[in-house]
Amino acid sequence: MTERVQGGNMAASVGSSFWLGKETLRVPAALFALNRTRLCDRLRASNNVPEKSIVLLQGGEQTNRYCTDTGVIFRQESYFHWTFGVIEPDCYGAVEVDSGNAVLFIPRLPESYAVWMGKIHPPEHFKQKYAVNEVRFTDELSQVLASKNPSMLLTLRGVNTDSGSVTREASFEGISHRVIKTDMELEVLRYTNKISSEAHKEVMKAVKAGMKEYELESLFEHYCYTRGGMRHTSYTCICGSGHNSSILHYGHAGAPNEKTVEDGDLCLFDMGGEYYCYGSDITCTFPANGKFTPDQRAVYEAVLKASRAVLNAVKPGVAWPDMHRLADRVHLEELTKIGILRGNVDDMVKVHMGALFMPHGLGHFLGIDVHDVGGYPEGVERIDLPGLRSLRTARALVQGMVLTVEPGIYFIDHVLDEALANPAQACFIDNEVLARFRGFGGVRIEDDIAVTANGMELLTCVPRTVEEIETFMAEDQHGAKSFASNSNQKP
Ligand code: GLY
Ligand code: MN
Ligand code: MN
Repeated sequence: MTERVQGGNMAASVGSSFWLGKETLRVPAALFALNRTRLCDRLRASNNVPEKSIVLLQGGEQTNRYCTDTGVIFRQESYFHWTFGVIEPDCYGAVEVDSGNAVLFIPRLPESYAVWMGKIHPPEHFKQKYAVNEVRFTDELSQVLASKNPSMLLTLRGVNTDSGSVTREASFEGISHRVIKTDMELEVLRYTNKISSEAHKEVMKAVKAGMKEYELESLFEHYCYTRGGMRHTSYTCICGSGHNSSILHYGHAGAPNEKTVEDGDLCLFDMGGEYYCYGSDITCTFPANGKFTPDQRAVYEAVLKASRAVLNAVKPGVAWPDMHRLADRVHLEELTKIGILRGNVDDMVKVHMGALFMPHGLGHFLGIDVHDVGGYPEGVERIDLPGLRSLRTARALVQGMVLTVEPGIYFIDHVLDEALANPAQACFIDNEVLARFRGFGGVRIEDDIAVTANGMELLTCVPRTVEEIETFMAEDQHGAKSFASNSNQKP
């Protein structure tokens, strides 16, 4: 049950918070009040928002499974959550830009709700719960808005730059401020990372040849929910073992983490828990049997070197595409040392050899959405080159941004065969050495970071070096509990 602490009788009561009891995180309603203040400040500062403007947002709707009466577990729409922190479906919310006054509109529920779903709470309940100035019913929306006589209504309709589909997106400038996290939001992201890191460690301890990949997915989800109050994950769990570790979005409906984990497999597990709509996105790659082979170690350490080079270089002002290029360069240097590539790395860069091994972007914003919004505001162009075009942002870093750093090296037959058929790229590949890595799978190391005034804070805390992983996996359950890596320091 969500526990609420009632505040004073001021509308913006400061004592109200979201909490799932036990050791879960208490998130103050003030987090959302501050987001609304930031939104209004930004809109007031902009030239094209007149006085008496109102922001109107629609919350997520409760849906059913196709043509049935089986409800799908509700998850709030992300912009609405950022602005109001409301957990119930079928609401609207309005914010008066001049004053910051917030009005929440709740559905007028039928009497049958009280029989099937529980007590019907009056508007006053929601006013306290969400620390807003006023609560009305959604059937009063037009009347309330008309009475306020706004000069402009700001709503969210636009095109999502990742999916290309028409959806609720920032069609006005103020709400893209979501990209900068407040201290209160950072606290939640630290929590989602802490719980998800621990869940990854539980999985690493439990893996054994003979288990199904989905058993490990299930264990991760169980830990996140039972210990962290996380009913949702931020995305579908990717639990690829062996060859599946090279399938970037493995785990989808057609490939639902169903393979048996085998001795000698590398496991690439990309999983993140979500708490009160704030996410995490962590990938651990490790050998199923707890011991890296020389080839597994070489590729793993190449990716780790790229990861650490990026973490050391990150600071405000750094352009994110340059971090992607840095990771590519380290990969190419290390693949040359392994013998898979030969020749001059500068020449390899010119023909985009990096994208053969890391076809995805280095990382992305993270927040209420796992691929959080704000990556391409007006004036920031996508770079239309292999690898770089997959980046979900090309911005320069700013303090308060939260991103993933997720370099990877994958051996994807389709990509490698195309490269071998292209003389400009094939000349750099030693096909005999490469043959040894066909079927190897892939390695990804994914950490979540917050950009600080002069560097970054590492939010993720899992064993990362080969030695840390091997030692950790060899320890018994008791040892597992005492493991701690240096979470908040630069590597
Ligand atoms: N888990 C999706 C991603 O890493 O972006
Ligand atoms: Mn991920
Ligand atoms: Mn990611």
